[in-house]
Amino acid sequence: MTEHVPGEARLLQRRHLVTEIPGPRSRELLARRDGAVARALTPPPTSVFAMDAGGGVIVDADGNSLIDFGSGVAVVSVGNAAPRVVARVIEQAGRFTHTCFMITPYEGYIAVCEELGRRTPGGHEKRSALFNCGAEAVENAVKIARHATGRQAVIAFDHAFHGRTYLAMALTAKNMPVKDRFGPFAGEVYRMPMAYPLRWPGGREACATEALPLVKSLIHSQVGEDNVAAVIIEPIQGEGGFVVPPDGFLPGLAEFCAEHGIVFIADEIQTGFCRTGDWFACEHEGVVPDLVATAKGIAGGLQLAAVTGRAEIMDSVHVGGLGGTYGGNPVACAAALGTIETMAAEDLAGRARRIGEIMLPRLHGLAEKYPVIAEVRGRGAMLAIELTRPGTLEPDPVITEAVSRACHRAGLVTLTCGTHRNVIRFLPPLVIGEDLLNEGLSILEDAFASTSG
Ligand SMILES: Cc1ncc(COP(=O)(O)O)c(C=O)c1O
Repeated sequence: MTEHVPGEARLLQRRHLVTEIPGPRSRELLARRDGAVARALTPPPTSVFAMDAGGGVIVDADGNSLIDFGSGVAVVSVGNAAPRVVARVIEQAGRFTHTCFMITPYEGYIAVCEELGRRTPGGHEKRSALFNCGAEAVENAVKIARHATGRQAVIAFDHAFHGRTYLAMALTAKNMPVKDRFGPFAGEVYRMPMAYPLRWPGGREACATEALPLVKSLIHSQVGEDNVAAVIIEPIQGEGGFVVPPDGFLPGLAEFCAEHGIVFIADEIQTGFCRTGDWFACEHEGVVPDLVATAKGIAGGLQLAAVTGRAEIMDSVHVGGLGGTYGGNPVACAAALGTIETMAAEDLAGRARRIGEIMLPRLHGLAEKYPVIAEVRGRGAMLAIELTRPGTLEPDPVITEAVSRACHRAGLVTLTCGTHRNVIRFLPPLVIGEDLLNEGLSILEDAFASTSG
């Protein structure tokens, strides 16, 4: 067996196109996909199929090397096939791949929970439970909050995305394509307006002063504080459009929860693990959630998710009340330990801040040139531009799609998001080289030049 060389070192960190995008081999695979894979799975934005990936590049089935501004939706923050992740995965997979933690436990699971306890916000005593994906973590966070409080109501927000299982769908705001015709959904979920500065009636400043009092008063009048088990919120909303609430909104919400014995759940599934320039996005304003749901960036691409929180809340659940066959799989735990080690050793939170410093001026420059960009927002390496008809707030998903396609054709993987599909988001791997990052931004600029006239 040849020795495995991890992705970043093995692959030239450059964009290199040898065919059109998608090339013939990817087109063949697309045709096979259509004949075998359920139609409901969202089609790949670039239409290319991966053969190899590492650092800031993805190599497709035709040998094209594309710049990655998506990280598999904020997952491979440490880069694909990151050396420490690969080494630990290989070592663990060679020893055992599954015993079920509840049957024959192993140290890796405990080590991941210890890391989560140390690294999530707050110095209080914590406990964690591990799961397989973000939606499962969200569901379990709500189960724990209901059990701990003996209350039922859960507060979620406009533009929220918390996953695709039934309770997670109920918490998610967007109908099409996530919820349409899948009802009925879980009950006792109440939706509040999100502090969305660009779209707040009355504008940005009104949002900063009005959003929190409005949410509190709606909870009071429509639900009753004493009926609320949990408030769940993404510190920066992900699929809903990278919506950043104004300063003070999250701390005020956390304070309100504390006053009323409500469990404050931070869904850090997309924002967590160094993505926004801190280990967790809540740290930016010193918010300490009662429970934190994590997944995505936690394990370098392997399936792992967690709920971490105050020991007294977590341990309020009776023995046997939480679990699952695969949760905290040993190979996924090994990957998480390799990921966390990489993030600490390479200061990937600092790298995320540096990515923001490089990207933001260029994105603002684009916004000055192209009035179709209504807003540049985000933090660290979680950035986005929202596109509207110039001078209005009317979403423009058509130009959003056209710019994205131009990026893809030129070899830059970008993703869109937003309730109205009018946001282009940027989630590069945190290990991406600065030359590649700047080249990606130049491709984006060219895409605007070629589509916006
Ligand atoms: C904030 C947030 N919560 C929950 C989820 C659901 O995670 P998963 O797809 O792993 O179930 C996502 C996925 O995009 C997310 O961004």
